[in-house]
Amino acid sequence: MASVRRKPTISAGWKTQIACAAVLLVALFPAPGYMVKSDDFKRCDQSAFCVRQRAYADFADKVYNDSKDSRLSPYELVAGSLKFDEKAGLVTASLLDAENKIPFSLSVSLLERNTARVQIKETRPVKSRYELSGDLALASELPKSVPISSSTNSKDSSETTVVFGEKKQNSLVIRAKPFAFSLSVNNVPAVTFNEHGYFYYEHWREKDVAAGLANQDASSSSGDLVVETGITDDEEKKLKEALNKDLWEETFKSTTDSKPNGPASMGFDISFPGSSNVYGLPEHAANFSLLPTRGKGKVYDDPYRLYNLDVAEYILDSPMALYGSIPFMFSHKKGVSAGLYWMNAAEMWVDVEKHDESDILSKASKWLPFGSHKAPKASTTAHWMAESGAFDVFIFLGTKPMDIFDSFTALTGRPVLPQHFAVAYHQCRWNYIDEQDVADVDANFDKFDIPYDVLWLDIEHTDGKRYFTWDSAKFPNSEQMQNNLAVKGRKMVTIIDPHIKRDDSYKVYKEAKDLGIFIKDKNGNDVDGWCWPGSSSWIDYTDEKARKYWAERFKFSEYKGSTPSLFTWNDMNEPSVFTGPEITMPKDALHNGGVEHRDVHNVYGTLLHRSSYEGHLLRSDNKERPFILSRAFFAGTQRYGAIWTGDNFAKWDHLEASVPMLLSVGTSGVVFSGADVGGFFGNPEPDLLVRWYQVAAFQPFFRAHAHIDTKRREPWLFGEPYTSLIRAAIRERYKILPYIYTLFAEATRSGAPIMRPLLAEFPEDEATFAIGDQFMLGSGILVKPVISKDQESVNVYVPQASVWYDYHTHAKLAASTSGHVTIKTPQERIPVLLRGGSIIPRRERVRRASNLMLRDPYTLWVALDQQGQAHGELYADDGHTFQYQENKYILSALSYTHNTLSSTLHTTQTSAPSESTITEVGSRVERLVIVGLKTAPKRVVVTEGGKKSDREVLVESEKLADGLVRVTLRDPAVIVGREWEVKLEF
Ligand code: NOJ
Repeated sequence: MASVRRKPTISAGWKTQIACAAVLLVALFPAPGYMVKSDDFKRCDQSAFCVRQRAYADFADKVYNDSKDSRLSPYELVAGSLKFDEKAGLVTASLLDAENKIPFSLSVSLLERNTARVQIKETRPVKSRYELSGDLALASELPKSVPISSSTNSKDSSETTVVFGEKKQNSLVIRAKPFAFSLSVNNVPAVTFNEHGYFYYEHWREKDVAAGLANQDASSSSGDLVVETGITDDEEKKLKEALNKDLWEETFKSTTDSKPNGPASMGFDISFPGSSNVYGLPEHAANFSLLPTRGKGKVYDDPYRLYNLDVAEYILDSPMALYGSIPFMFSHKKGVSAGLYWMNAAEMWVDVEKHDESDILSKASKWLPFGSHKAPKASTTAHWMAESGAFDVFIFLGTKPMDIFDSFTALTGRPVLPQHFAVAYHQCRWNYIDEQDVADVDANFDKFDIPYDVLWLDIEHTDGKRYFTWDSAKFPNSEQMQNNLAVKGRKMVTIIDPHIKRDDSYKVYKEAKDLGIFIKDKNGNDVDGWCWPGSSSWIDYTDEKARKYWAERFKFSEYKGSTPSLFTWNDMNEPSVFTGPEITMPKDALHNGGVEHRDVHNVYGTLLHRSSYEGHLLRSDNKERPFILSRAFFAGTQRYGAIWTGDNFAKWDHLEASVPMLLSVGTSGVVFSGADVGGFFGNPEPDLLVRWYQVAAFQPFFRAHAHIDTKRREPWLFGEPYTSLIRAAIRERYKILPYIYTLFAEATRSGAPIMRPLLAEFPEDEATFAIGDQFMLGSGILVKPVISKDQESVNVYVPQASVWYDYHTHAKLAASTSGHVTIKTPQERIPVLLRGGSIIPRRERVRRASNLMLRDPYTLWVALDQQGQAHGELYADDGHTFQYQENKYILSALSYTHNTLSSTLHTTQTSAPSESTITEVGSRVERLVIVGLKTAPKRVVVTEGGKKSDREVLVESEKLADGLVRVTLRDPAVIVGREWEVKLEF
């Protein structure tokens, strides 16, 4: 909606009301072919700190290229200042900006899970920088420190090497002058810092004091950068101009940022030697392996921007900022993975540059001179730039991407376990009009035999966009309405946004105003901006008092007309401010304690998400797991729930874009994510809708949603064959819910994404490293979308390290040496493959809502690998409470070896589930389907609890086209949660 919201030029009054009403009309009914207006949002050359930091990097490159000396950077360690606390795993030093004579302190803390935390602070700042406190940004406490195993100095004392890690596998090499460091895993360089000399830290300064490299007389500067490198006077002048750009005030279109604190940006380069890919930095509608924005191969002119913005109908293939920002990236090469998280919620830009072999060889004498003796064949460099906040960077090391996801989510929080219903199918639209509409839609799902779990209500259900209220004419009996769904095992969700209508007769507004918990403008008044309800103010969720107040709004006594089966959707929380700069909050707005909005912008939406989560806990007395969907997100969002990718379009290319977008979010901690099925804007042609359902059924968050101006598109409205095709896709989702729910449980333990890039599963297969247009659901299912109409076949890359079976027919895929296969895509299916070696738990009896299936028996698909083996796991609990935290759950390790399928207690479950837990949440296995056998077994022997059962198991076998046999064992009647074996005798 963003870009069609023209901002009124006068702040209040009837003219504004009329203008905004017109804006809303345009917003609701956008002209056909309307696209995002990119010039509502800044480019790098319109963002002063981006200009300054990029200019500095260009300058560093110039120095590098033109100078015969080794790399120049004015930052250096003060001689003799490097100190170690071996036990505490701490390295400290004094760092000097020799150019400006500004002292800094450096500390590197070595932490568990192969993590290093690098902090750089001004030693004598004139003001203090905002530090995103652990409480707002980290899971709980910092990971424990690990001791330094050894430290040595190079002969000339120019480099110091510190060894750490359980197996002494990690080393940190610090170079004193110019300051740089590298981190290696098993002696292979993983990361280098300031290799390119882009490190540039704008120290605090008083407004009237000339400061900065730009204001110095070149001949008097200690580094003599300009003189020695022989750059021309003109270049020097331009650099000074660029480094001085808009230090104290910045204007964009008709808005001015007053910047009372002046410049405070920071930038640095981080390189991944030997690696050609870098991933992460969501949210962008871009490739999963990030395309370069700098250097000879650059694809985009702008860096990737991290600044939460309401960008409707976003353009694809772009580094433009979107609704969420996670300042995290990772890289991988065979044997070594590395990741980086900058714990800072200010606006960021990140350039990506790829260096090939010739690039590197031409500079090899200067490149990687430390920590490594061999120039790599490729390298990827990221230039990170942040407007303000602290320099607080975590670097993660490992041998595979899963190590990095584990470390990153150990730090920022493990994903929460959703309620079981939340993993099923959600039906949303802007808007289901009234109670009758809700009842009709609900009834039609039953009539057409299509399961669904949740019906969603958008902003029109409220009394004039006053959240926590109902439009009493359309929803007079909201509790009854929810209960009508609840008896069928179904839930509802209502939307609750952070903008509060400025209306004294609206309780939430009046109370929040009186409590003083709204964000203030630069003059100290409650921010008055425009959003759905008209003139609005925004709750300051950085304030604990505000979060508490907000959480209390969810109590059943406060949120009248809500019931325990009502859940929450937080939208517009970037925050979207129609009248603000770039459709968001002014950066000089003030939060609790005088904190500028610029310092907390990217975490704001997550604090709303958190506060709503806490509200749900409160209303159930901490008994029920909350479900909250948020549009804005930040590092750690996974602790509170799900996100979706915002206002996409009903177009094939948006379906295509959803896969890399979700991979990027999912590998950055937020494993529970999805895209609006069908596309939010516009009307999908039925083929597109079907293809969208077919792929989204295998993605973590599965919700159809549509703009108010679109035609109704509930699954039964298109007639045959479409209704049947959509029905089949949704029903398939319900069948694999046990598998997906088990993946969610895995994510809570290790941060493993639900939807995975191929490289996460095949870290040794270089051909997977750049793939982002197909994905794994867990480790056992590979999916590739169909992304155009009438597409008869699709090319799929299938890693040769595994055997693969067609998901639908179970026929083994003919091996191809290249790993590429062409798979036919008739209307009823997209390419979905079963990985040999996996066990997929399923429930085949689809009912109208997932909770009604919770006690149904299981079917296990066992797909054998080359060795005739398979492994998997199965998680089950009550599906809604926190009792699983008291060992009331089942986690079985399933394994098929030596022709025997066995179920044992998973190693991560410390004690066996009690009999009552097994009775409550365990179910019978009613069918085993074994795929990839050469012959059918003659006999089957079942052993449970060490005792052979005399049960006769019916064996059915079928020879498939590949010549292999699929065997179905009917009703072995073993119970999930117990230990048992099913042995096939041939
Ligand atoms: C913008 C959201 O992205 C969209 O999903 C929602 O329908 C509208 N706001 C109205 O609430």
